[in-house]
Amino acid sequence: MRHAPIDPQLFVENRARLRQLLLPGALAVVNANDIPPTNADGSLRLIPNSDLFYLTGVEQEESILLLFPDAEDERQREILFLRETSPLIAIWEGHKLSKDAARAATGIGNIQWVSEFPKFFHRLMCESTHVYLNSNEHKRAEITVETRDARFVKSVQAQYPLHQYHRLARLLHRLRIVKSEAEMGLLREACAITRAGFDRVARFVKPGVNECEVEAEFAHEFIRRRGGFAYTPIIASGANACVLHYIENSRPCADGDLLLLDVAANYANYNADLTRTIPVNGRFNRRQKQVYDAVLRVLRASIKGLTPGKTCRQWQEEAEEAVGRECVDLGLLKPRDLKVKVDDPMRKPVKKFFMHGNGHPIGLDVHDVGFTTECFAPGWVMTVEPAIYLPAEGFAVRLENDVLITADGVVDLMADIPIEADDIEALMARRK
Ligand code: GLY
Ligand code: MN
Ligand code: MN
Repeated sequence: MRHAPIDPQLFVENRARLRQLLLPGALAVVNANDIPPTNADGSLRLIPNSDLFYLTGVEQEESILLLFPDAEDERQREILFLRETSPLIAIWEGHKLSKDAARAATGIGNIQWVSEFPKFFHRLMCESTHVYLNSNEHKRAEITVETRDARFVKSVQAQYPLHQYHRLARLLHRLRIVKSEAEMGLLREACAITRAGFDRVARFVKPGVNECEVEAEFAHEFIRRRGGFAYTPIIASGANACVLHYIENSRPCADGDLLLLDVAANYANYNADLTRTIPVNGRFNRRQKQVYDAVLRVLRASIKGLTPGKTCRQWQEEAEEAVGRECVDLGLLKPRDLKVKVDDPMRKPVKKFFMHGNGHPIGLDVHDVGFTTECFAPGWVMTVEPAIYLPAEGFAVRLENDVLITADGVVDLMADIPIEADDIEALMARRK
């Protein structure tokens, strides 16, 4: 891990919050992710399992957390199983968690080697009634590869068909959507690193630089600050910005074009999500500024509109109405277009220019888990990302900030990242 050590109290409290939601006599298991394979004998770096990290802070392959709050033997109430190291592993892979280090990092007293898991698990299953197993229940997940958790579900249910099984994901979604103070500290650090990357890039971009050079500037700034990319960066000049998931980042930035930067940092597994749209030559032209200011007005209104008690769907509709009105002022829609009644909301005229969600929860996952059909509540962190896409004019403007919802109003976690067109131009005027 590159990040500073985290106070284990965060994980102790997260486990305590989960225990409150388990049925009496229930056992819960969370597995690490697999190390993703590539080609031949290649593999990628392990992406820590967000739920395992949330509950333990552990970022090591093959780890398993077992919670059984009602176990008769109190030492068995929470157990962390770890891959045992060896001289060979130490030479090839380096440091692995010792039992003592794991105890200190997680606040879990009982640490066992993973080879012991079947024995412990069988004993505790014989004592338990309800079993909570984990699965990816993100509603937009495209699941084509079986995870360790998914394989575990299959094998446990085959071996113990008579237990009562439950979905741990339901409980974790409920917990993870509300961020604690300690989590907010990590999210703020991800935002601070993101800001440093943006400041550097705004002073680097000029006509002729390639989008991939811009990506490299972000990478340098994020990694030297002990972060990394929160998601594959989108660095899209001109009409590339109209491709929502443009990640090729390979074109020279042309004089007169806008450059859409949807790039943010991850720190200690917590993600920021930022979008800024800047003029390649440092000055917005008239039309670009008109569209820019329109999107900025919607962003400001949408941030204010994140009020506890409102549903995501209501908030989305408000944003679409606001973008629709701006599109009329920009000559893109006619007033009558705003009144068109359609059965399929995707056919609303405004969707031609703004066809995606106005935001999503963010945290340990970029599109974080949580019940977004429920009302906003204090402790949620949402992105706010209105946009107007104009492929016919060869550009798009999207702006995106991350915002904490509280009982007393919103806190814009990216308020210190320049966003007014004048401030962007002033920052770019300081280019080398
Ligand atoms: N960067 C991904 C998103 O904005 O949702
Ligand atoms: Mn984004
Ligand atoms: Mn986003």
